[in-house]
Amino acid sequence: MQLLYCSRKTRPMDEAALTDLAEQAARRNARHRISGTLLAGCGLYLQFLEGPVAELDALWDQLQHDRRHTRVQLLMKNLRGAGRLYPAPPLALLYPATPLQFMALARDVRAHANAHAKWTMDAHALAALVDRSARRRERAGAAAGG
Ligand SMILES: Cc1cc2nc3c(=O)[nH]c(=O)nc-3n(C[C@H](O)[C@H](O)[C@H](O)COP(=O)(O)O)c2cc1C
Repeated sequence: MQLLYCSRKTRPMDEAALTDLAEQAARRNARHRISGTLLAGCGLYLQFLEGPVAELDALWDQLQHDRRHTRVQLLMKNLRGAGRLYPAPPLALLYPATPLQFMALARDVRAHANAHAKWTMDAHALAALVDRSARRRERAGAAAGG
């Protein structure tokens, strides 16, 4: 199964905190034969996950209740993915990710997806969401004097 979702950060996470989260997640993913890519930046997360259905369903449940992020929005679910897109790491972290990198991951996933993929958000809607969030961050940074 393959999942792509985005969510909003609820708390500032510096590089050390994110690396810590990703290392713990990678250890769990390895045990469950899950591989994934996590982008963090612009106040958002974008994560692509692949693995056995039961294991990914269980992780998806946990992710939706994780208070480190909110507005967890599914972009794509594929119960019968055409093999892994990113076979290697149990969780690759990219931070800080730029809006272009967000769109590049979504584009790669779309290019790889087969007809079983169910998309619930298109590329334009994702671009608008990333753009809004990046602007909100810029304004917050400007207001804080930085
Ligand atoms: C943005 C984000 C991405 C995450 N990615 C994963 C992941 O790939 N694998 C994983 O096991 N946990 C991941 N987690 C952590 C899970 O939400 C959850 O904390 C973890 O599975 C442990 O759950 P438990 O504390 O209820 O045992 C992620 C959390 C966040 C906020």
